[in-house]
Amino acid sequence: MIVLIGSTKGGAGKTTLATNIAVALSMVRREQGRDVLLIDGDKQESTHEFCQDRAETRNGELGFTFMQLHGQLIRDQMASLNQKYADIIIDCGGTDNPSLRAAMLVAERMIIPVMPREIDIKSLRHTISLISEVRLYNPALRPSIVINAGDPTGQDNEATKDEIKTRYLTAPHGSSDWIDPGIDVLDGVIVRRKALSDAWAFGLSVLEYRPRNSDAIAELIKLMAEVYGTDIQDIYDGDTTQRARAYA
Ligand SMILES: Nc1ncnc2c1ncn2[C@@H]1O[C@H](COP(=O)(O)OP(=O)(O)OP(=O)(O)O)[C@@H](O)[C@H]1O
Ligand SMILES: [Mg+2]
Repeated sequence: MIVLIGSTKGGAGKTTLATNIAVALSMVRREQGRDVLLIDGDKQESTHEFCQDRAETRNGELGFTFMQLHGQLIRDQMASLNQKYADIIIDCGGTDNPSLRAAMLVAERMIIPVMPREIDIKSLRHTISLISEVRLYNPALRPSIVINAGDPTGQDNEATKDEIKTRYLTAPHGSSDWIDPGIDVLDGVIVRRKALSDAWAFGLSVLEYRPRNSDAIAELIKLMAEVYGTDIQDIYDGDTTQRARAYA
C-alpha cells in the first residue's frame, strides 16, 4: 500500500508521523520477511536527516529502505517501486507543491495530521480542496485526518474532530452542490509528547526511544491499527528487551 503523509499546512507533524510509521511498519514487515520503503518528497530533507541520524544511532542499519524523490518522478517511478516494495510511505512538504500533487495521484491512503488549533483547522480547507480536485484523477485515494499534537487532557481533541466533521465533511444544510471530499477522521489521537521530538533527534521512533513513553507508544500502535489494520503490540512487546538494550 502506498501511504502519503501530506498536507498543505507546514509543521503539522507529517515528518514526525511518517518516520514513526515507517519504523513501526518495518517491525511488522520484518517478521513477514518484507521491506518497507520510506520516500522523502520534501526538499527540506527532514526525513533524510532523520535517516542519517538513525544510521548513526544504529550502526548503519535503518531497518527499512530510504530514498529521496521529487516532483513528477514520484508519479513516474511509483509503478516500478510498487512492484518491489509492498509498503511505501511518502513524506511531502507542507505546501501545495508538485511532489505533494504527484504523490496524491499515486497514493492509496493519505494521512493528514491536523493540530487541534483554530489556525490549523482553518487552513485545512486548502488541503481538502486539493483532495477534492485530485480525487477526480485518483478516485481510489482514501484520505484520513489524524489529530496530532493533541492535548493530553480535556475536550479539545474531540471538539476538533467534531468541528472538522461539521465544517468540512458534511453537507451544509440546504446545499445541493456540495461535493463530499471522502475524508474520514481517525479515532486515535497523537498527543503532544516530548518523547516524539526527543526520539526524532536520534533518528528513533517512540517505540525505540528510552526512557520509554508508554502513552506515546500506545498512540502510535493505535494509529498503525487504524491505518494498516496491523496489531503491532505483540511484535513490539516481543522486541522490547532487545531494543531497550540496544538504544538505552
Ligand atoms: N505529537 C507531537 N508531539 C510533540 N512534538 C511534535 C508532535 N508532532 C510534531 N511535533 C514537533 O513539531 C515540529 C514540526 O513537526 P514536523 O517536522 O513533523 O512537521 P511537518 O509537517 O513535517 O513540517 P514541514 O511542513 O515543515 O515538513 C517538530 O519540532 C516536531 O518535533
Ligand atoms: Mg516535514
